[in-house]
Amino acid sequence: MRTRITELFGIEHPIIQGGMHYVGYAELVAAVSNAGGLGIITALTQPTPEDLAREIRRCREMTEKPFGVNLTILPMFKDVPYDEYVRVIVENDIGIVETAGRNPEPLLPVFQGAGIKVIHKCTSVRHALKAERIGCDAVSVDGFECGGHPGEDDIPNMILLPRAAEELKIPFVSSGGMADGRSLVASLALGADGMNMGTRFMATQEAPIHDRIKQQLVDATERDTALIFRTMQNTARVFKNELAQEVRTIEAKGNATIDDIKHLVAGERGKQALLEGKLDGGIWSAGMVAGLIHDVPTCAELVTRIMQEATAIIDDRLSRMRAPGALAEVSASAPR
Ligand SMILES: Cc1cc2nc3c(=O)[nH]c(=O)nc-3n(C[C@H](O)[C@H](O)[C@H](O)COP(=O)(O)O)c2cc1C
Repeated sequence: MRTRITELFGIEHPIIQGGMHYVGYAELVAAVSNAGGLGIITALTQPTPEDLAREIRRCREMTEKPFGVNLTILPMFKDVPYDEYVRVIVENDIGIVETAGRNPEPLLPVFQGAGIKVIHKCTSVRHALKAERIGCDAVSVDGFECGGHPGEDDIPNMILLPRAAEELKIPFVSSGGMADGRSLVASLALGADGMNMGTRFMATQEAPIHDRIKQQLVDATERDTALIFRTMQNTARVFKNELAQEVRTIEAKGNATIDDIKHLVAGERGKQALLEGKLDGGIWSAGMVAGLIHDVPTCAELVTRIMQEATAIIDDRLSRMRAPGALAEVSASAPR
């Protein structure tokens, strides 16, 4: 399939694996890229910039295909040497960077000066337009459904994506709630040039997280996520486990500060939950799309299946619905 995103990033299929803290390691990234999509290493999952350089090298040993690095700038408990992470990304010939969290404008000259394409993650049309204005090459539009940080506007992708298509000139991918061929065709129909997935890629053979977490995603329904940090305007969608419920209870009492929940939401606990399978041991991000996850395939099986499903939907299901003779009229009036 050819779209503006496959052209921009030099990939075979318009499917991206978004940055995921404590999930986006080289094994998963290389597997997605080898499957013809775009894998993305999560920079801050690496404890130091030197570790990131090592992870990039490790990934290169596993794939010759393009892959990217995610740099997330969010409020943190500790100081992060962002400049050093940026230096490592540039010096290691990374061609694609996914930025998230804050306005990436200060980083664009150094990234784009080094020939790096920048895709910025946005949860609203106004932020996507800002990203376009400052010169980002593409945006990832994250709807309210998404795992991780959906922002504070609560606009689901059925509205957000066509709104983005109405306003944006640069290519964009859908993100949040995407799982299969139906998601891809819907994204393209709504104006996107591809799709980004997080939670779906967690439940793959190569995702280097504990099997109990993968099984929990298979067993989960679309009702098994919870929003936390709402009262602090830093909303996160996470798996609804005991700890998430506890955080919500504290927030519901009113006037909660980060100090009241810090011991529950510490990153180290989330890491243990994901890597050691301590299901209620920490907070871990997950999207409503868990309800659409029914198996744990390899990344190659998943990506191939998505492309086959998408092609079948377009060529078979949708084509058969078209009334005879209506083709010329329809294509003349189709929005992008
Ligand atoms: C476990 C997990 C960790 C994530 N960590 C990050 C992160 O560190 N930086 C980031 O930009 N996005 C992060 N995300 C968001 C994903 O990149 C992606 O935008 C999101 O998962 C899309 O929604 P979906 O889960 O419905 O596919 C995370 C998502 C998950 C599920």
